[in-house]
Amino acid sequence: MPHVITFAGGESGAWRVTAMQQVFGPVLEPVTQLNITQSSERPPQPATGWALQGLISNLRYAERGEVVQLRNRQEGLGRQHARCAALIPIKKSQAWWDLAQDERRAIFETRSHHTAVGLDYLPAIARQLYHARDLGEPFDFLTWFEFAPEHASAFDDLLARLRATEEWRYVEREVEIRLERAG
Ligand code: HEM
Repeated sequence: MPHVITFAGGESGAWRVTAMQQVFGPVLEPVTQLNITQSSERPPQPATGWALQGLISNLRYAERGEVVQLRNRQEGLGRQHARCAALIPIKKSQAWWDLAQDERRAIFETRSHHTAVGLDYLPAIARQLYHARDLGEPFDFLTWFEFAPEHASAFDDLLARLRATEEWRYVEREVEIRLERAG
């Protein structure tokens, strides 16, 4: 079993929740802290709060030129100055999953410019995408971002641009959890 990442919302963890906003669909129970763990097994669901799980998977849509640009521009997670983070779990609609791969790529990049838009915010925003759909999780994706406090408004701007795209018409559940390093 590849390593499963678990984002556990509760009352302990290295990240303090500063805001939780339901963007689309049902809410997640409000929590005050977020604990992140990696394990080769899927840990049980906690008695209080919630635990969302995902895996790093292969790329679906990025083409060679984009992969090269991303590698040249992006920085990794865990940077000292990146004291802010966001966990944004997302579920897309059945209509999205019913499309063929080429139709999804056309919406994702040709018409919504997801990667092109995102590249404007690198390296300030560091990111990691986790796939959750094939684990039978309530969300399809867990998206994670880290940035310095001075880039928080740029991150807001990025969210507004992505949410205005055709791709986001297929998002049926999205929760935005904003965090800062505890202690
Ligand atoms: C920081 C700049 C960003 C960049 C450079 C970026 C880039 C990418 C790339 C290249 C992929 C495709 C991976 C693949 O080929 O499978 C992707 C997927 C995805 N991104 Fe972003 N992204 C950014 C920001 C965001 C934000 C802010 C969100 C959420 C609000 C987000 C949500 C997603 C989701 C849900 C997917 C999976 C889409 C799917 O497979 O249907 N991304 N991103």
